[in-house]
Amino acid sequence: MPPLEMPLLEYDGLRVELPGTARPILDGVTLSVAAGEAVALVGESGSGKSVTARAALGLLPSGARTGGQVRVDGTDLVGADAARLRAVRTGVASMIFQDPRAGINPVRRVGDFLTESLRLVGGRTRAEAEARALELLTAVGLPDPARHLRQYPHQLSGGMLQRVMIAGALTADPQLLLCDEPTTALDVTTQAEIMAVLGQLQRDRGLGLLLITHDLDLAAATCDRIYVMYAGRIVETGTAADLLAIPRHPYTAGLLGSSPPLEGTPGRLTPIPGAPLSLAEAASGCAFFARCRFAQPGRCDLTPPVLTSPVLTPPVPTLPVPAPAAPTLVACHRADELIEENR
Ligand SMILES: Nc1ncnc2c1ncn2[C@@H]1O[C@H](COP(=O)(O)OP(=O)(O)O)[C@@H](O)[C@H]1O
Ligand SMILES: [Mg+2]
Repeated sequence: MPPLEMPLLEYDGLRVELPGTARPILDGVTLSVAAGEAVALVGESGSGKSVTARAALGLLPSGARTGGQVRVDGTDLVGADAARLRAVRTGVASMIFQDPRAGINPVRRVGDFLTESLRLVGGRTRAEAEARALELLTAVGLPDPARHLRQYPHQLSGGMLQRVMIAGALTADPQLLLCDEPTTALDVTTQAEIMAVLGQLQRDRGLGLLLITHDLDLAAATCDRIYVMYAGRIVETGTAADLLAIPRHPYTAGLLGSSPPLEGTPGRLTPIPGAPLSLAEAASGCAFFARCRFAQPGRCDLTPPVLTSPVLTPPVPTLPVPAPAAPTLVACHRADELIEENR
């Protein structure tokens, strides 16, 4: 029997806890990205998305107690030595951050930024590195790349600079691209362009993509599967189509109701009341309890719900629905009742 294909990126019960806090930053995060698959991690600010993304490069907050595993191409990065981490960072995974200006030296030319790692990691000559840098800038859709190679970061707009950063992430020929809110610092038009570039690269190069965003609609437009994170836990996961059509967790439904749709006229937006749990607040039961309009005291606040497959199927009797490629999992004590209520 052929071996089952190993995911490119696999979190297995990752737990990250800082001393002096009331709850872990991450609590049992299990998530996978297969080679060539686009996956999104969605949640409000402070939910633990960036800590999750950085863990895929072996970067964990200093002083944190950790548990579980993060495997990249089969190598566990939790507690890995420097040589293993370097091998992953220079050959398998690359990261793109929210603010492109924070990741580039303002007093060096764009060309030097790109060719430096091409020469260091790829062992290319100067001419080879420059040719490759031109190819990469063309691949990310930068017009007149030869001129931009000679420019300084301040001469480029935010959107152009984010394209340079994406080209920079591609210098190591990664199999996995980690994008942490790659368009949050950009204006709306530029956001759409950058997402189009990322989607195109992901498909053309068969990259595994982990897209981190607070925007569920953006996630669904770009990714095959979605994980929804709340207070350091995955509360729902499934295919993008399923999650948007039938959000099972009240938090997922809340995220959908609180952001305008990408297309069409926005209906009434309903913000989720209250604020996310800080690290100083512990939850005895469901962490979403205090903000959930379906919460039942004496039940939802007693034990934390675990991720399980919902028993009840949603009320879509008219068309035969093909079995989804990834089953929905939800961590809500009332997930089945809520589907029943909507019948
Ligand atoms: N290095 C660190 N030291 C202390 N706290 C941290 C560190 N990194 C993240 N945190 C805390 O962990 C929580 C999750 O952070 P983060 O992953 O950045 O959230 P998100 O990216 O979803 O907005 C936040 O409460 C944040 O303050
Ligand atoms: Mg973040």
